[in-house]
Amino acid sequence: MSTTSGAADPLAELFAALPCHFADSPLYSRLGPVVAADERLLAIARHARSGQVPSNLLLASVHYLLLRDPAHELAAWYPSTGRGPATGDPGPAFTAFCLSRQEELIELMRRRLVQTNVVKRSAVLRLGMTMVASMTDEPVTLIEVGSSAGVHLRFDDYRYEIAGRTWGRASSPVVVSAEWRGQGPPPDLDRLPAIADRAGIDLNPIDAGDPDERLWLRALIWPENLAQAALQDEALRVVAANPPRTYAGDAVDLLPEVVAEVPRGTPVVIFHSATRMHVAAERREAFDAAIASVGREHDLFHLTFEGAPDLEGQGFALELRRGGEPSRRPAIGHGHAEWLSDFPPRVS
Ligand SMILES: C[S@@+](CC[C@H](N)C(=O)[O-])C[C@H]1O[C@@H](n2cnc3c(N)ncnc32)[C@H](O)[C@@H]1O
Repeated sequence: MSTTSGAADPLAELFAALPCHFADSPLYSRLGPVVAADERLLAIARHARSGQVPSNLLLASVHYLLLRDPAHELAAWYPSTGRGPATGDPGPAFTAFCLSRQEELIELMRRRLVQTNVVKRSAVLRLGMTMVASMTDEPVTLIEVGSSAGVHLRFDDYRYEIAGRTWGRASSPVVVSAEWRGQGPPPDLDRLPAIADRAGIDLNPIDAGDPDERLWLRALIWPENLAQAALQDEALRVVAANPPRTYAGDAVDLLPEVVAEVPRGTPVVIFHSATRMHVAAERREAFDAAIASVGREHDLFHLTFEGAPDLEGQGFALELRRGGEPSRRPAIGHGHAEWLSDFPPRVS
């Protein structure tokens, strides 16, 4: 974990910590320390673009190549490839694969982004929208920043099964279920504001109908998580049939022109989940300012589901801020919305 100068290498530390950060993936928990200990693998990971998390990118790039061509023996450790199951240490096969496919991996690391579009986070957006409905009777414009394939922008097309109840579109092929850990029952998730318009902004909007882009999204999901992959497939079909309007570029640059199309004084909900954490550190102030500036001419509801320092990696916080009012935190949840809870959570 130390460089020859004795200083700690942050990249090696990032990979060494994967058993903690990627605890839901037994395979990635084993591969993290393998990369951390091998400067040849770290050298490949160093090609990630600024602001992108190299561990997610390297593991997704390997996964993408294996999904395209599962002939290599490494595929047997990846349940998503339909090969295996393999037993023993995946480290030697992983290392051999990375070194033999180095050039392709570097090209992917330079070009691709971490764009995991987690369908279950639609439940978080829905929860936040019920709060917005309790604060305004007017139709709202919904703008998602970091919309990836636009899965959340169709959140009202899905069926939800939470706390033994169902909400949303009963006949939808997309069924979003989440464990409810709240002290009381969840709010009425069918109480939504009318949506006057909706749009997404992303550095690289994913075309839900493009097989190669879908494969990249599939590769970003942990290899063991077959349920999340199946849910994503269903949601991408719904989105591809009715793609939301999306703008390609940095939200800092694009938000003013997107919002200029919205009638002045009307409510605008700006939602982002797992996005601010992927904005390069030196751009975060500008990112926050671009969103806050929407409040100058509109009734701004800024809704976020991001990691929060006080949660110490134990989940994400759903936060809502109206204009310049103090932010409130109605709920917290698992980063992939496997569980949700009102805040403060129940102590078990
Ligand atoms: C990890 S993905 C999360 C996608 C989606 N919000 C979700 O929760 O499923 C982060 C997304 O934010 C986008 N992104 C990052 N920085 C951005 C920026 N400054 N402006 C617009 N999009 C950005 C990335 O391209 C990526 O699609």
